[in-house]
Amino acid sequence: MPESPRMLCCLFMAGCAIMLTPSDALKSLNTSGLVTSKEEARISNHLVCEMSGDSIAVTGEKLLKQLSQCQHLTPDQTKAIQQIFSGGNTSFGPPSTWTSSVLDQLGQLILIPDTRILQSIPQNVLKPWLQNFILHSDLPQNQLVRIREILKSSRTKREIENCPEDKMIREDILNDDLIDELLLYTPAHLKLCLTKGNLVNNISAFSDYPFTDEQLTAVKDKLDEIFPKGYPPAVFSNLGLLEKRIDTENIKQWTINSSSTVHALLNSVSSDELRIAVIQRYIESRVQIDSDFLNVLGPYICLLNEDQLSMITERTIGMATLLDPSNCSSAVKDHLYPKAKRAFSDRHYEYSEYYKRIRPFLGGAPGEDLRALSKNDVNMDIQTFLGLKSSSLKELTPEIVKGLLGTNLNDLRDNQNIPLVREWIQKQKQSDLNSLGLGLRGGLPEGFIILTRPKKQD
Ligand SMILES: *[C@@H]1O[C@H](CO)[C@@H](O)[C@H](O)[C@H]1NC(C)=O
Ligand SMILES: *[C@@H]1O[C@H](CO)[C@@H](O)[C@H](O)[C@H]1NC(C)=O
Ligand SMILES: *[C@@H]1O[C@H](CO)[C@@H](O)[C@H](O)[C@H]1NC(C)=O
Ligand SMILES: *[C@@H]1O[C@H](CO)[C@@H](O)[C@H](O)[C@H]1NC(C)=O
Ligand SMILES: *[C@@H]1O[C@H](CO)[C@@H](O)[C@H](O)[C@H]1NC(C)=O
Repeated sequence: MPESPRMLCCLFMAGCAIMLTPSDALKSLNTSGLVTSKEEARISNHLVCEMSGDSIAVTGEKLLKQLSQCQHLTPDQTKAIQQIFSGGNTSFGPPSTWTSSVLDQLGQLILIPDTRILQSIPQNVLKPWLQNFILHSDLPQNQLVRIREILKSSRTKREIENCPEDKMIREDILNDDLIDELLLYTPAHLKLCLTKGNLVNNISAFSDYPFTDEQLTAVKDKLDEIFPKGYPPAVFSNLGLLEKRIDTENIKQWTINSSSTVHALLNSVSSDELRIAVIQRYIESRVQIDSDFLNVLGPYICLLNEDQLSMITERTIGMATLLDPSNCSSAVKDHLYPKAKRAFSDRHYEYSEYYKRIRPFLGGAPGEDLRALSKNDVNMDIQTFLGLKSSSLKELTPEIVKGLLGTNLNDLRDNQNIPLVREWIQKQKQSDLNSLGLGLRGGLPEGFIILTRPKKQD
């Protein structure tokens, strides 16, 4: 802007005047007559850009044009400018009357007013102007982001129209005829005309009929609009094809604060990534893990991360009745086993009751605990046995394994080729294996001495 000599002069005057007496300065502004050098203009511009937010607030809108030339505005200055705009009393008139020449005068300052003001500017003026502005200005990233936000919100505003009279869906329950008609709706009309009732009552119909991807996306957008805090159970348990359109960003917006909601969601979504988001969201809202939650988690207990696992107390484990981490990673089992052991042995359980409860956690048990179990006729089932830690199993002699499996010992023969068992067999003396009477082969031959060579230190 500072191309015209008049303007240059104005900048200079304003700058110097402000330095002296900010509040009265602008009264003396007079743009006629004076011609100044570019150097003076640069200095004056510099001075305007250095003004404090307070001085800007005092001068009101008069310096907006000059400020629009500043390379950088401080938060303080920005706030003052924002206040000038939100006062709504500028010589540019109400935003709804602004033309592109007003926008030209404001330049980059247009990124400052709040969304309400921006939305009042005629969008057919603002949008093309901003698009042109992006092309011809060298803007920093954060300003580009702001412009995209403005363009996006202006677009949203434009789309808020009403459903055309002839497309209105008057029934809450969709019948086959209605669905056939809906198949011909454009995505935009679907989004405008579907009702909450349609979606709650007949969400599954959108998977059962040949809607296009674009139409399904419109239905999903409508759901997000109607249910910003999360879909009701009737909806999310019947999502069908729409389920594929849910992402973790959706879930982060939802209120997931009851164990029944967690339960329904965990079973409705199809990927562990989404389940992890659901679990995260619940834990965020409750800031604790209770036994109800552990019960509804079921097999998804395996999805908890280290931090979440550490929120599980012995007490909650003791109260949870459906917790079964037997299929989880060894990290999860290693974490839970000691807590479970304390939770169950502190109580007045019969040994058989203790075993029943600790069984799903035994994948995290050390060898010595397994040796203790083997003395107590637990008759461990082979699935549990196969889930034991290999490092713990290695510590057990055939005699102890016999005690552990009890009446299930024969199952060991059928599973002798499973790597865990194979590895164990290879570490046992063949004579000890023979005493099991299972015909297991591949143990250490008689007279074989295991030499542990000291490791070389280098
Ligand atoms: C600006 O200057 C011109 C001529 O020098 C004068 O006629 C006019 O009244 C001045 N305006 C103000 C606001 O001082
Ligand atoms: C708007 O500005 C005019 C002139 O600057 C002033 O007289 C008027 O009181 C202002 N109105 C409001 C609501 O601030
Ligand atoms: C919509 O829901 C109603 C009530 O649940 C059901 O009777 C009807 O068959 C459903 N319509 C479609 C097209 O699935
Ligand atoms: C869950 O959140 C909703 C909405 O914020 C609230 O009305 C409800 O009472 C909450 N439920 C629980 C169990 O905290
Ligand atoms: C563990 O996995 C097996 C095989 O996939 C399955 O049959 C069993 O139900 C699972 N157990 C649990 C507690 O999830």
